[in-house]
Amino acid sequence: MSQSITKARDGFTSTFGVLAATLGSAVGLGNIWKFPYLTGENGGAGFLLVYVIATLLVGLPVMISEIMLGREARTDAVSGLIKLAPKGQPWWLIAAMGVSAAFLIMSFYSEVAAWVFAYIFKAASGEILSTDPAVTGAAFNSLITDPLQSLLWQWLVLTLMGGILLMGVSRGIEAVTKRLMPLLFILLLVIGVRSLTLPGASEGLHFLFSPDFSKVTAGVVLTAMGLAFFKLSIGMGCMMTYGSYFRDDQHIPLTTVRVMCADLFVSMLAGIAIFPAVFAFGFEPSAGPSLLFITIPAVFASIPLGHLFMVLFFVLSAIAATGAMLSILEVPVSVLSERFHMSRTRATLINLLVLGAVGSTCALSSSTLADVQVGGKTFFDLFDFVSSNVLMPLGGIFLCLFVGWVWGFERMTTALTNGGKLSLPILRPLFFIIRYVSPLLILVVMLKGMGLF
Ligand code: PFF
Repeated sequence: MSQSITKARDGFTSTFGVLAATLGSAVGLGNIWKFPYLTGENGGAGFLLVYVIATLLVGLPVMISEIMLGREARTDAVSGLIKLAPKGQPWWLIAAMGVSAAFLIMSFYSEVAAWVFAYIFKAASGEILSTDPAVTGAAFNSLITDPLQSLLWQWLVLTLMGGILLMGVSRGIEAVTKRLMPLLFILLLVIGVRSLTLPGASEGLHFLFSPDFSKVTAGVVLTAMGLAFFKLSIGMGCMMTYGSYFRDDQHIPLTTVRVMCADLFVSMLAGIAIFPAVFAFGFEPSAGPSLLFITIPAVFASIPLGHLFMVLFFVLSAIAATGAMLSILEVPVSVLSERFHMSRTRATLINLLVLGAVGSTCALSSSTLADVQVGGKTFFDLFDFVSSNVLMPLGGIFLCLFVGWVWGFERMTTALTNGGKLSLPILRPLFFIIRYVSPLLILVVMLKGMGLF
């Protein structure tokens, strides 16, 4: 009986498909414009160390918990927590918070992705091929301050993602990420080698990796932890949703460790592809969007064959953004289609419409709505901050509390060993970390990072 229900539900069909989709979610714009810059800016190897510790003590346990709960429930995140929790306890609110986080993230993320997609064409046409950051800066400014262009590119990206999601989990998400992820690795390696072989490249490696622990403050630790949540797509039901598509025989802890390592590897490669080239030509490394859209084009314009590499770089970024956006959108799409019994088509369309509206606040954050600010932040920055530094860590705390205190060791053991088929010596320490260490650590880092104690 349960076999036939499992079969009827769409899901990932192969081990490689699971890896590609899950890694496709983790790898994204976060690797390309958050990780390298934050690392360079916040103390290089010192930040990296804090990030790796946060990933091991918080990221990994939360990710394993989420995927496990998803696969146990085999339904959308909200229904999943209703199904797994004792009757009447409102643990499903974690998933509801996750759905709101998905909307916030998708709102600003789809706009950065919109710029990336637009830049493939701008790079190809030679429009941004200038070694002068003032010229590339003006080109970027004219894109983001034009409300119509910003909106149209965002809606185009949303429509493209909707089109893939409409094809379903295995024939849409899995099929697309299986093809795109290997391509992403190849492109990244090619650009990394190009960047590293430039004269003067070592200064970029120095910026990225030389440790400066004096920069590692409480705020920086919060940033590193927020990055770990954002990078691994955890604390908001995304991995729970993907977990519900995992095969019964999938080794969850091993898959999670593989995804984490590959994601870290991609982040490092992205840093290696970007900073040596930036320094080789004497550019100043800049933050977030301007690094990607102003400095990078100027850097590529300085390199022999730079025109080609610039196009490849934005294709690579678009690929990275695609896998991530599919997974963010899948959270509310699966909730509407499974919890509210809508057809996948209807669920996708409704979500796209809502996102088109909510997301437009971010698309217009540099133009029409530039002056509308909350706490000194535009909608774009606010959604970014609240999702990574508040909602996702909060989701992580409650997921750990649920597994550690409500679900319990026995059920976790059965779930992670695939019903006793795998032997996992790490279960006791893992449970201890999920029950005590991760939630406490997240709480302390959140409160301290926000200056609340
Ligand atoms: N992990 C993605 C990145 O690093 O770009 C972003 C992301 C994807 C965040 C999926 C949240 C999510 F649910």
